[in-house]
Amino acid sequence: MRSHYCGGINESHIDETVTLCGWVHRRRDHGGVIFLDLRDRDGIAQVVFDPDTPDSFAQADRVRNEYVIQITGRVRRRPEGTENDHMATGQIEVLGKELTILNESATPPFPLDEYTEAGEDVRLRHRYVDLRRPEMAQRLRFRSRVTSYLRNFLDGEGFMDVETPVLTRATPEGARDYLVPSRTHAGSFFALPQSPQLFKQLLMVSGIDRYYQIAKCFRDEDLRADRQPEFTQVDVEASFVTEEDIMNAMERMVRNLFSDLLGVNLPEFPRLPYAEAIRRFGSDKPDLRIPLELVDVEDLVQNVDFKVFSGPAKDRKGRVAALRVPGGSELTRKQIDDYTEFVGIYGAKGLAYIKLNDRSAGIEGLQSPIVKFLGEEATMAIMDRVEAADGDLVFFGADKASVVDEALGALRVRLGHDLGMVEGEWAPCWVVDFPMFEEDDDGKLHALHHPFTAPVSAEELQNNPAGALSRAYDMVLNGTELGGGSIRIHDEATQNVVFNSLGIGKEEAREKFGFLLDALRFGAPPHGGLAFGLDRLVMLMTGAGSIRDVIPFPKTQNATCLMTDAPGEVDEKQLRELHIRLRRSAKSDQDDSN
Ligand code: AMO
Ligand code: AMP
Repeated sequence: MRSHYCGGINESHIDETVTLCGWVHRRRDHGGVIFLDLRDRDGIAQVVFDPDTPDSFAQADRVRNEYVIQITGRVRRRPEGTENDHMATGQIEVLGKELTILNESATPPFPLDEYTEAGEDVRLRHRYVDLRRPEMAQRLRFRSRVTSYLRNFLDGEGFMDVETPVLTRATPEGARDYLVPSRTHAGSFFALPQSPQLFKQLLMVSGIDRYYQIAKCFRDEDLRADRQPEFTQVDVEASFVTEEDIMNAMERMVRNLFSDLLGVNLPEFPRLPYAEAIRRFGSDKPDLRIPLELVDVEDLVQNVDFKVFSGPAKDRKGRVAALRVPGGSELTRKQIDDYTEFVGIYGAKGLAYIKLNDRSAGIEGLQSPIVKFLGEEATMAIMDRVEAADGDLVFFGADKASVVDEALGALRVRLGHDLGMVEGEWAPCWVVDFPMFEEDDDGKLHALHHPFTAPVSAEELQNNPAGALSRAYDMVLNGTELGGGSIRIHDEATQNVVFNSLGIGKEEAREKFGFLLDALRFGAPPHGGLAFGLDRLVMLMTGAGSIRDVIPFPKTQNATCLMTDAPGEVDEKQLRELHIRLRRSAKSDQDDSN
């Protein structure tokens, strides 16, 4: 139906007759001449109709925004002074000869160029309209270029694209499962995969050697800007490899991707041990563009009178840390109150601070609500340790280590942005030497990555599981965890020790993971891999603010689809076939949980 895409015509087509199809982006009536901006996925072209062609002029007069039309006309140079340098097709226009209305359109739910005022709900409800916006269309196109680039790269490195099931058993990655009831097995459920983890390991046992898949994963967890219940991984696994092999190959892949698609040369990927990342940045996904660091001071405040500090300082699980903000003494009371409220989100009970106005004046040169409790000696020792200079402000967190890490870690990032301290555009890193487990408040161990991650030392795993390190690695970019992986356990005995440490008894292990344990007995090669979050990768590369902006049909923050109204109720017959009786009306259940 068309000879060219709207965005594809340029000065080289001058004097040619072209046929374009698309949507009316805008219609302007300029005293006897009608201008239509015609849009398709490639861009926008200006089409002019004048009364010399009365039939098509009359049609052009009738069209409205988002009508679908086909036009034929001759490409000509725009009259001097009317060129538009902001448009790819801004040097030319099409003098329309024929116009066919292919379909009419109701008034769109929001004007495509004023979508920002529409609000995300309206955009998501009419996502098919939202995706017409050039910005969204470009993101989808870019996403397609990323996947095709990554496929090419991996194909070229000898990785094989293999599909794994979506109807399967629970794959523990730390979130809740989405379940699918079985009709043929009353009372039994499939789980949708949280990742293809176990299948890709089984493919290694099969001798596939190098696998990849662009795979949908499903996790029922609390959603945020960088989390969706249904998301996509670029999932990779290889046999007979060390962590160096995987990390080098994946780093090369990401480096090439950025350089070929964005013209960006990523800097070095420093390797940060997990413990160091937490100590210096309060986070295992540090944003290294921000030159602020946490400094431990618990040894300096163990014996001060200020219980808020001395309590956590003496507690094995406590932490007291300082965060020096250069030039921060200019922060107002109001700003400090706002930051105090901000760290409250992460459970911090307060945000002590010291402003250093004049170092030479000793304690007199400080301004702070806590110096009177801390005393001169401890205060000055802290000022020395954080190397505070006149004009600086030092914030403090004192609590359970996890609270201090999260609160000051988030504050560090927020301050970096608020005070314009972000250095450079891209700061990647690897985080390595993760512990195998983290301990919850009840002393129970949980896998920090997943239970199939190999320990650095089998002995340590046996003797001191809580302190054992794993062979896991995460790739982090600008404070976002892009991907994570590990060398896996490939022998049954070690796998059993890990299950045991996690409190998964022999019977439960057999019940849930019998197939894996069996496979490990039939010649499993050493293997390892990694999975990237494709949505996050595309979000960062396109500068989008949320992964929802790079997913064609995303879910809302509370895991619903506003367009299709999923999840929806099903009728009684379907429930009966699935052997399901609702405990009570779904409505009252929901009221209960609110
Ligand atoms: P992990 O759980 O770290 O590892 O997931 C890998 C990457 O997937 C992305 N990701 C998400 N993206 C959007 N929404 C979500 N809810 C979400 N959850 C995770 C992140 C993350 O880095 N099987 C292992 C990988 C392996 O060991 O090879 C796994 O799934 O970018
Ligand atoms: P208070 O004695 O509770 O009035 O606190 C004195 C100062 O310490 C205030 O500036 C509080 O914001 C701060 N503060 C209180 N609890 C903590 C904490 N857990 N970590 C850091 N600062 C705190």
